[in-house]
Amino acid sequence: MGRIDRLLAEMTLEEKLGQLSMSAAEFAVTGPTSAQGIAESIRAGRAGGLLNIWGGERTRAMQRLALEESRLGIPLLIGFDVLHGHKTIFPIPLAEAATFAPLLWERTARVAAEEAACDGVNMTFAPMLDVARDPRWGRIAESPGEDPWVAARFAEAKVRGFQSSDLAAVDAIAATAKHFCAYGAVLAGRDYAPVDVSERLLREVYLPPFAAAVAAGCAAVMPGFNDVNGVPMTAHVDLLRDWLRQESGFEGVVISDYNAIAELMTQGVAVDLAEAASLALTAGVDIDMMSGAYLCGLPAALSRGLVGMDQIDLAVGRVLALKERLGLFEDPYRRGSQNALVASRRGLRRDLARDVARRAIVLLANDGVLPLARDLRKIALIGPLADAAAEMLGPWPGAGQAGDCVTIRQALTEALPEAEILYEPAVGIDDRDASGVAAALRFCRDADVVLLCLGESAHMSGEAASRAKPGLPGIQNDLARAVLALDRPVVAIIGSGRPLILPDLVEKAQATLATWFLGSEAGHAIVDVLTGAFNPVGRLPVTWPHDVGQIPINFSVRQTGRPADSGAPYASKYIDMPTEPLFPFGHGLSYSCFIVASLHAEPECFRPDDEISIAAEVSNLGPFAGEETLFLFVRDPIASVARPLLELKGVAKIALAPGESGILRFPLPARSLCFLGADLAPRFEPGEFRFFVGPSADPAHLACVTLRALSD
Ligand code: NOJ
Repeated sequence: MGRIDRLLAEMTLEEKLGQLSMSAAEFAVTGPTSAQGIAESIRAGRAGGLLNIWGGERTRAMQRLALEESRLGIPLLIGFDVLHGHKTIFPIPLAEAATFAPLLWERTARVAAEEAACDGVNMTFAPMLDVARDPRWGRIAESPGEDPWVAARFAEAKVRGFQSSDLAAVDAIAATAKHFCAYGAVLAGRDYAPVDVSERLLREVYLPPFAAAVAAGCAAVMPGFNDVNGVPMTAHVDLLRDWLRQESGFEGVVISDYNAIAELMTQGVAVDLAEAASLALTAGVDIDMMSGAYLCGLPAALSRGLVGMDQIDLAVGRVLALKERLGLFEDPYRRGSQNALVASRRGLRRDLARDVARRAIVLLANDGVLPLARDLRKIALIGPLADAAAEMLGPWPGAGQAGDCVTIRQALTEALPEAEILYEPAVGIDDRDASGVAAALRFCRDADVVLLCLGESAHMSGEAASRAKPGLPGIQNDLARAVLALDRPVVAIIGSGRPLILPDLVEKAQATLATWFLGSEAGHAIVDVLTGAFNPVGRLPVTWPHDVGQIPINFSVRQTGRPADSGAPYASKYIDMPTEPLFPFGHGLSYSCFIVASLHAEPECFRPDDEISIAAEVSNLGPFAGEETLFLFVRDPIASVARPLLELKGVAKIALAPGESGILRFPLPARSLCFLGADLAPRFEPGEFRFFVGPSADPAHLACVTLRALSD
């Protein structure tokens, strides 16, 4: 008999349910807590996993309780939300997505895993893979943006990074793909709200990132708080069992979101904890995070015949198998014992944090004021985010400390020791106190350039941070208007967890940077871009709207019979604002100037098993060395079902010196042009396909080549 069967044979019902329960050890972040008496629960075998605890000593103490003082000595899962760094904080996921660099995504996850493992954590509740197209939803900050192809690449990279090639390794932690699924489509962008999506949208947009995570070997999956078409995800048999386990072959652990099993009662599908627990278990949820529904509800569910012991055993078996995969039975203390090693590589991790952060910055607009001239005497540094260390961390800061963050003010002072920096926050992020504005305006009048650091606080995005008006909070718009009226050169530096609605600011400022929440090295990264020490490369992973009225908005929409650009009065457009966004997906300027000089594709006619090769010649016509990112989109203009105008199929980058040209190649298996027909079965249809290559999804800047698909 193997270890798992042996343990299953020995366990009491309570011990089994303990393995299926995860409790907060020290503090509760996003819901009701049941943290008291955790030591007693561990001793009694009622807690198989803990969350929200880290630190070598503390986690070892908990493992010791489980090993030495519980009857069966089963080690604990120790989970934590390590989303964009543990102690070294990298840019928030939305910002990291803006680098379009899977290798970097993997490296930051690797470093986060090393640091978290060193603190005794063996499981992260990441990557978050919710395709997000609504900037009102605060959790867009945690997501890789609007595109399923990007989210799938993000999934693979993050799973590889967190788990490495051996989940039992001392520096590997179990990844949790979340929130399964379609959570990004919550009604009106309100967190936790219901979701209605078509089967097509599910399969084309919301499921592919999870399929990629499963294929990459992701250890765990977390269903979202949302329902999908009326069925709460925590109890969604079709998606959790039929799609995830059967169709995708997921063999890992499904862990509920925080208190979500008990919330099945509030969602109106269960009358008591026994029903809630039986619905979740039947759908395939193995671990109950924080609701106590399994411990308190499953015994009653068993006696009422709602579930069988075989279902419980299956779930316990999966939890124990994960503990085995993590190497916890061999050595539960291996994580949490490597502090010296991790401390020795701090410099490397900070360098990586700075590099990723500057790559995540998107230069939205620039009339030539950036990079800053070298001979600036006086710089007005204005705004509530200019010297705000804690805000730089963004939502889900892991174990990151504000004191470890470099602010814009600190980095500017360091980089430009000769310049006089006139600093004045002027206003708070979200208050109405204007007493600092007069001093700020005096500084601006006196300065060669104004750096206006505006935006959201870290807590205005992330969980439970939906905003009906996702613009500049407080009186920051008033401050911006007053500064812009002075006729000084203004660089707007916008910190946020989402695209913000910025009326007039982008037009009136001489340059605008989207700097998101960039983490520990935020200040250095921003100043590197301002001074030109780094030539910006970041690109928008989400469409940036003009106004809330355009939301939800994304580039990959289907053609209508009455296109907005047809010029017809009865067209699919608004009568009071453009249909185009302020900035398209993929937008981001450089200090260089790149053009696509030519585009070739072959073979002219292809069959499903062929490999299509698309090559774009790119030239750097600007005065700076730089890196260009090009996107490959596809359109199937006539098919048995209407296809999107643009579908992303590839991203490629090239570094070029001034005056240099190079070729970017996009290999594409023809089979990836399959789509779901009217019956939702995959089809490869013969006919014309258009391939577009360009720097963003803006149709005005896309080069096009047409090829023909032949039937099999
Ligand atoms: C609730 C959030 O929805 C989820 O993303 C997170 O992992 C858990 N709380 C645990 O903190």
